[in-house]
Amino acid sequence: MTDTFELATLGVRAGGRRTEFHEHSEALFLTSSFVFDNAAQAAARFTGVEEGFVYSRFSNPTVSMFQDRLAAMEGAEACVATASGMSAILATAMALLKAGDHVVCSSAVFGSTVQLFSGILARFGVQTTFVSPTDVREWEKALRPDTKLLFLETPSNPLTEVSDIAALAAVAKKAGALLAVDNAFCTPALQRPLALGADLVIHSATKYLDGQGRVLGGAVLGARALVMDGVFGFLRTAGPTLSPFNAWVILKGMETLELRMLAQSERALEIARWLEVQPRVARVHFPGLESHPQHALAKRQQRAPGAVLSFEVKGGREAAWRVIDATRLISITGNLGDVKSTITHPATTTHGRISAEARAAAGITEGLVRLAVGLESPGDLKADLARGLA
Ligand SMILES: Cc1ncc(COP(=O)(O)O)c(C=O)c1O
Repeated sequence: MTDTFELATLGVRAGGRRTEFHEHSEALFLTSSFVFDNAAQAAARFTGVEEGFVYSRFSNPTVSMFQDRLAAMEGAEACVATASGMSAILATAMALLKAGDHVVCSSAVFGSTVQLFSGILARFGVQTTFVSPTDVREWEKALRPDTKLLFLETPSNPLTEVSDIAALAAVAKKAGALLAVDNAFCTPALQRPLALGADLVIHSATKYLDGQGRVLGGAVLGARALVMDGVFGFLRTAGPTLSPFNAWVILKGMETLELRMLAQSERALEIARWLEVQPRVARVHFPGLESHPQHALAKRQQRAPGAVLSFEVKGGREAAWRVIDATRLISITGNLGDVKSTITHPATTTHGRISAEARAAAGITEGLVRLAVGLESPGDLKADLARGLA
């Protein structure tokens, strides 16, 4: 299937392949290896002279269907699936960076991403400078002759700051570096970073691509040369691979992706507007609100605002925990991207392992609560939140 189909169609159909049994739903190939007709064919497959499946660390038909569907939806030449979102970021870094290279990264990325760049990769001689997600000049100033990668997440987690992808793609291009965008919060249903000039798109498929909080998965997408020569080579050797079972679950989730993203965005906007007028709420962070500093950019760059919002409760940690603990419907969990709404306290959970200074610099206050809005009735969700805000 090609790009001539619209996104809704690609989500349902792209990448699907039938076996000799003519099954309608995509088949799940739970097999670790594939059998060859003879020794010569085995040799040809292992060396890549003949195309075909070999071993599920790096080739499996169900995983291929997932990769092809996501590539079609993102408008990417190639996609490599990974075991999780973090292994997608790791695989990208391991494939494209070497000791002595420099990275410029948004300071408002997921906590484990900060740990990966500032802790683990630093031990291997890769230096990272963290900059404001919204100030393009800071990115320009941080550039060095050895800068190889610019990395961001937009909207950011949990403050929903919106980075200007097209502007930062131009900065990267001028510097001869690559721009990678973590598109987990928007998915291709709402935002297509490659069309805006990014070189690579990263996914935590654990989030909205699955959409029902069942499995972990990830992906790296971009031009064939970058993804297949670089990232795939690392994956084949090191093995942070997506399991065929997880690929199958996510493939099914993607069939409803567009519907879910639009419906969840709409509910999130209704709840954000309601939170904004609650006396115990000091501030609401949501790109769909006119009060959001990058509202105009979000409208230009995204098809809808997304379903993650955060809000500051007056009274610090105690007040934030009161709101969380008073919920009966919303799930208290660190995950997001589910049709079940989830609530969390970033300062003590998702961002609990980064230093207090880094947290403060990123604006993660003690009173901040993150809400990922699902598909429940907005009225029921408001009633659930109202209890702790009374
Ligand atoms: C924006 C973003 N990127 C990456 C990740 C990591 O994904 P995973 O948990 O699938 O490793 C997360 C996880 O919450 C995330 O929110």
